[in-house]
Amino acid sequence: MPTWRLRDFHDDDLDRAIRMWEQDRQADDSYPVFPISEVMAAARAGGSAVVAVVGDDVVGMAVSRNEGERAWITLVALSDTWRNRGIGSALITELERRMRSQGVRRIGALLAPGATGTKALENSGYRSRSGLLYYEKAEHIAPSDAGLLAELGGRLLPPGLWSDLAGMEREKGTIERRIVLPLAEPALADRYGVIPPKAVILFGPPGTGKTSFAKAVASRLGWPFVELFPSRIAAAGSGSLATSLRENFADLAELESVLLFIDEVEEIAGTRSGLAVDPSHGVTNELLKLIPGFRDHDERLLICATNSVRSLDPAFLRPGRFDYVIPVGPPDSSARSAIWQRYLGPAADTVDLHQLVEASEMFTPADIEFAARKGAQAVFEREVAHRQGTRATTQDYLTAITDTRPTLTDQVLTEFNEDIQTYVRM
Ligand SMILES: Nc1ncnc2c1ncn2[C@@H]1O[C@H](COP(=O)(O)OP(=O)(O)O)[C@@H](O)[C@H]1O
Ligand SMILES: [Mg+2]
Repeated sequence: MPTWRLRDFHDDDLDRAIRMWEQDRQADDSYPVFPISEVMAAARAGGSAVVAVVGDDVVGMAVSRNEGERAWITLVALSDTWRNRGIGSALITELERRMRSQGVRRIGALLAPGATGTKALENSGYRSRSGLLYYEKAEHIAPSDAGLLAELGGRLLPPGLWSDLAGMEREKGTIERRIVLPLAEPALADRYGVIPPKAVILFGPPGTGKTSFAKAVASRLGWPFVELFPSRIAAAGSGSLATSLRENFADLAELESVLLFIDEVEEIAGTRSGLAVDPSHGVTNELLKLIPGFRDHDERLLICATNSVRSLDPAFLRPGRFDYVIPVGPPDSSARSAIWQRYLGPAADTVDLHQLVEASEMFTPADIEFAARKGAQAVFEREVAHRQGTRATTQDYLTAITDTRPTLTDQVLTEFNEDIQTYVRM
């Protein structure tokens, strides 16, 4: 019989550890207090994690979450064939050693009677306390998702983001029909042979609302919103950017539903940037390889946004990866009017909206938001100085417009229109 040994848990062990844990759970069919996603999140965020291995096989694992002097043992799992050999107690002893070095002085564990680990805990001097009840409340998303979501930096967005988007009727119409409706009504879509999209690209000048649209879609679907930041992925992973990208996608696969957003995707999928960021591993390639797997799951949508669709690697844009490539353009006058109204607040009653719309021709929604804020600030300051019940005037806002540098230029518009000819797919 080969012998086991103990060592620290590595990220590479994750798949084998989860498989072992699942088998273990089927064996003792108790309901764990800490779902595996929470266990892993805690292990990575300063907890302790030890595995027992035989060759390459993970046959046991113990994990704790440590908070100051208090620690919780969140997992003790043993492979079926390796029970009753003292592995459980050895794992706990190792875990305690690590906890102690972090200043832990009180260790608790919450286990169902007879669950894996109960014997090991008793043998290691833990005393069970009777007369306590464990209370729990699960929030809207599956409890197993909560920890993982937090770990991925994801969240559920409030409802109503869609209607917060003013104007932009053309974009709203396209995105609603092509993206939101088929995903929101998959059965109906299926009945009519409509294939819901799994991945789309939004492109357009900065500040036109690409990020806002991505969030609004998540808000309408009620799916958690996870944003992958190319820079953060690189910083968080110990290995290469490609490896962290792969790990992130693996974590995402555990979520029931998710809208994954990658902003400024040219940073990791640009013709040059892909190479510049990570010459040895080809992160663009990695992302290309990950997209098909992502597409295999239901209730998943990848939205990539870029200000520079022309600098994306052509391989990235080849059909089969992205269902739609959608422009999010500068607001026309009716969109500008709606956006001004959204941001004018009470001043909407006292200014000539038409003049503002005309004067802000080269403004993006973000520019309008900025100018509206500037105008309001000026009026407010005047009132603070004079206390005469100042009313906002058109001139206040025209001045604010003059003081705001428009994002759009002739060149930006020319390029955007060229890009529409070349890249749009919808
Ligand atoms: N249609 C819109 N109505 C109201 N505000 C908008 C609209 N589009 C964008 N904004 C505002 O403009 C700012 C920039 O939008 P954002 O979505 O970040 O643009 P992008 O991602 O295209 O650069 C945000 O503060 C957003 O609230
Ligand atoms: Mg953005």
